[in-house]
Amino acid sequence: MLSKEDNELMCRVGPATAMGAAMRRFWLPALLSEELPHPDCDPRRVQLLGENFVAFRDSDGKVGILDEFCCHRSASLTLARVEEGGIRCLYHGWKFAVDGTVMDTPNVADPRFKERFKARAYPVHEAGGLVWVYFGPAAQMPAFPKWRCFDVPASNRLAVYAVVSCSFVQVMEGLVDSSHLSVLHTSPLRTTGGSELDFARKTTHMQFNAAPRIEAEETDFGFHYVAMRPVSEAPEDGVIARVAAFVPPCFVLNPNGDLFFAIVPVNDHRCLFFHVWWDRDQKFGEEPLRTRQLEFVGLDPTALDAFGLSLKTCDTPAAASRANNFLQDRDAQRRGHFTGLPSFTQEDAAVSMSAGTIRDRSKEILSVADVALPKLYRALLTCARQGSAGQDPLGLNADTAHIIGASGKLAPGVHWRSLVPQHHVVAGTRAADDGVAAA
Ligand code: FES
Ligand SMILES: [Fe+2]
Repeated sequence: MLSKEDNELMCRVGPATAMGAAMRRFWLPALLSEELPHPDCDPRRVQLLGENFVAFRDSDGKVGILDEFCCHRSASLTLARVEEGGIRCLYHGWKFAVDGTVMDTPNVADPRFKERFKARAYPVHEAGGLVWVYFGPAAQMPAFPKWRCFDVPASNRLAVYAVVSCSFVQVMEGLVDSSHLSVLHTSPLRTTGGSELDFARKTTHMQFNAAPRIEAEETDFGFHYVAMRPVSEAPEDGVIARVAAFVPPCFVLNPNGDLFFAIVPVNDHRCLFFHVWWDRDQKFGEEPLRTRQLEFVGLDPTALDAFGLSLKTCDTPAAASRANNFLQDRDAQRRGHFTGLPSFTQEDAAVSMSAGTIRDRSKEILSVADVALPKLYRALLTCARQGSAGQDPLGLNADTAHIIGASGKLAPGVHWRSLVPQHHVVAGTRAADDGVAAA
């Protein structure tokens, strides 16, 4: 449970907010590299943290992210021409390089005029199939993080995102909440038995146990938590443990071990839910695995468009919303489908969005199944407060190369922490301390 004030502190991300200040201290994914497919391709509008930007790839293949509105008289640079090493505004032809250098001002005769100022440009770095951007103060720019999904070639990696129309915190709550998997995803999990996808193999046991034992521990990077389900009725068979790691302000390592999430706010009411799958052997980036993986979880372009989870469709009347009851198919439910929603991604998005774009956390009743949530709130509030105080926010100096999600079968008496020995624990869980109601 959170006060209205803390809830606002945690969820608001605009330029004048505490969480906004904290988030601007991190390198954040802004779009997929493949959305700027070649030099001098069309520019793209990017909205992040409540502000508007334009992204483009210049003639040398370098990506620039600038303020969307031209520094001359505010025409949108999403209409601009990308040509000969820069982006040229349509209105009066001012042209800018990826670093904001003004290359040309054709309506001003003085050739030195353009040397007096720059367009606002932000540092950009491409890695893991994503374009990352840093919006914070230049003097405080951190080293670019090393996430493990960067370590494989493009052929072994699959990056994609869904546009989810609610606060980024609501999406993250679902990622540190194992108990919903065996309920909300009952129907798609039933189909995992017939699939040879790794994702299916690693999640199939979850359909049989909706009340896993959950524990969480604070770590030097944020927190990690575990969901444990008995392998069988016999205690000597041990448990299957799934450990997820959360790194503020918006990164989660899935227990499957091969899946990285970043949940980046577009604004207070919408976020980009990035997924990156990677594997040293499997060719996630190539067909047929790429499409099979995306279709299995409802992240293929057709499924995203149909549900309003793409930039192309999220603002159309056909997008899933309260007005159309999130496109729920009650007939499918009567025929036996648990939710009447197409797949994992749509089920998660529908329940997250159905609570309102910033849900009211002053009324929630948390249980032992929700042990990770107070950890999430605490980490985010710490991050926000540190950000607004000008301190390094929690997570900023995390050793990201060594943070993992993991799962495995544990014999009786073996601690789940043995799955993530490189995580440095700073505090364990005491549910009562975190305001979790006894249940
Ligand atoms: S508004 Fe862009 S050049 Fe004038
Ligand atoms: Fe889910």
